[in-house]
Amino acid sequence: MSKSLIIANWKMNLLRSDSELLTKSILNMVNPGVLQFEIVLVPPFTNMEIVHRIIDHTDLSLGAQNVFWEDSGAYTGEISPTMLRDIGCSWVLLGHSERRQILGETDFEVRRKVSAALAAGLKPIVCVGETLLQRNKGMAPNVLRRQVESALQDVNNENVQNIVIAYEPVWAIGTGNNASVQEIEVAHDEIRDKLIGLFGKDADNIRIIYGGSVNPDNIQYVLSTKNVNGTLVGGASLDADAFIQLIEKAGAK
Ligand code: 13P
Repeated sequence: MSKSLIIANWKMNLLRSDSELLTKSILNMVNPGVLQFEIVLVPPFTNMEIVHRIIDHTDLSLGAQNVFWEDSGAYTGEISPTMLRDIGCSWVLLGHSERRQILGETDFEVRRKVSAALAAGLKPIVCVGETLLQRNKGMAPNVLRRQVESALQDVNNENVQNIVIAYEPVWAIGTGNNASVQEIEVAHDEIRDKLIGLFGKDADNIRIIYGGSVNPDNIQYVLSTKNVNGTLVGGASLDADAFIQLIEKAGAK
C-alpha cells in the first residue's frame, strides 16, 4: 500500500490570487520532503495552472474536480483527461456527491469517467457515500457497494493501484457532523470487502480515504481508524493555518 493521502478539495472557491497565496503558504509551512503523506491540491479548473506553477517539482501534486470521458471534440463546456495531463494534473475527483446530487451525475457517467481518466494516466479518486435518508433506512451498505461496483466495472487488475476510493457520507459533508469511528470503520470494511470481491488480493493496493467535516480537531481519530488510508478535506483546506495544523496533527498521530 502507498503512503496515506491528504487531499484538499477547494470546490468552487477562491480566485487565482487566493489560490496562489494559499498554495505558497502551504508550501512554506510544510516541509513535504519529510512528510509521510502524499498531499494533493484540487483547485477549480481556472486556478489549476497557477497552482501547478507553484508546486511543480515539489512533493505536492495537482488534482482536478471533474473530467469528461472523451478526449476531444464537440463537447461544449467539458474538459478532457488529456487536457488535464497537459497542465500537470495527475489526480481527478470523480462522482463527488455534490456532482451526483446537484448536477445529476449518474453511476454510468462516473464509470465512463473512471475508464477515461485511467486510460490517460490520471489517478481517479472515486467518491461514494450514502445520504442521511439512505442511512436511516439501512441502505448504506448497498449504496456503497453499488457505487463502488458500478464505478469500477471496466477497471482491470493492472490499474487498481491507481484508484482511490473516498468514503464521503453526504450527511457529513460541510455539516460539522463528521462520522464516528465506528461509522467510518463499518463503511470502510464494506467498501474493502466489495473491492476484494472485484479484484481479489490486488484490492489491498486500493487506498480508501474518509471525507466529511474533517478538521484539525478530528483528523487524528479519523486517521487512527482501522482501514482509513487518508482523508479528503473540504472547508478546512481553504484556510492555510487550519490546513497546516491538520497536516501537522496528522503527522503526529
Ligand atoms: P467538508 O470537509 O467541507 O465537509 O467537505 C468534504 C468534501 O466534500 C471533500 O470532498
